[in-house]
Amino acid sequence: MARLTIYPDDAPHAPERSTADHATVAAWLAEAGVAFERWDAGADLPAGSDAGTVRTACAGPIAALMERSGYHSMDIVGITPDSANAAEMRARFLAEHTHDEDEARYFVEGGACFFLHIGTRVYAVECTRGDMLSVPALTPHWLDIGARPHFTAMRFFTRADGWVAAYTGSPIARSFPEYCP
Ligand SMILES: [Fe+2]
Repeated sequence: MARLTIYPDDAPHAPERSTADHATVAAWLAEAGVAFERWDAGADLPAGSDAGTVRTACAGPIAALMERSGYHSMDIVGITPDSANAAEMRARFLAEHTHDEDEARYFVEGGACFFLHIGTRVYAVECTRGDMLSVPALTPHWLDIGARPHFTAMRFFTRADGWVAAYTGSPIARSFPEYCP
């Protein structure tokens, strides 16, 4: 179940509003120019389903998203607490950064929390199985996959070489709550 919590960017312990209702999550994010969708396709797949099975089960929403958003390719990434690079993976995106293209993710299983810094607000979006979030290009954000990361996610790309992190140098991420699923 997704949860959205909105904070003033200077008050990381005083959230203004929070919701776990999918339609409300989508509506509040849409007001900020961020796409959030709930895909029922594939929701009944067993945990650990291989990439091909997931791709087939979600073919409809995948095709619609790629058509609508101009994404040209996709892949599937996964991590578990036992992954050798779990700590390195967590650290890599835990500081505020931007990308030249959208960061679009569909969570096949597990979860993670995106923190989007838009204007004077921070939108903390906890994504879990069935949630699709697209962080618009150049939006300052960070991602916390948790101390014991566990997720499988589809990644969508507009360019093969565009998805690198440009760090803003802001320490803001360190003051916000950690993701503790
Ligand atoms: Fe990112």
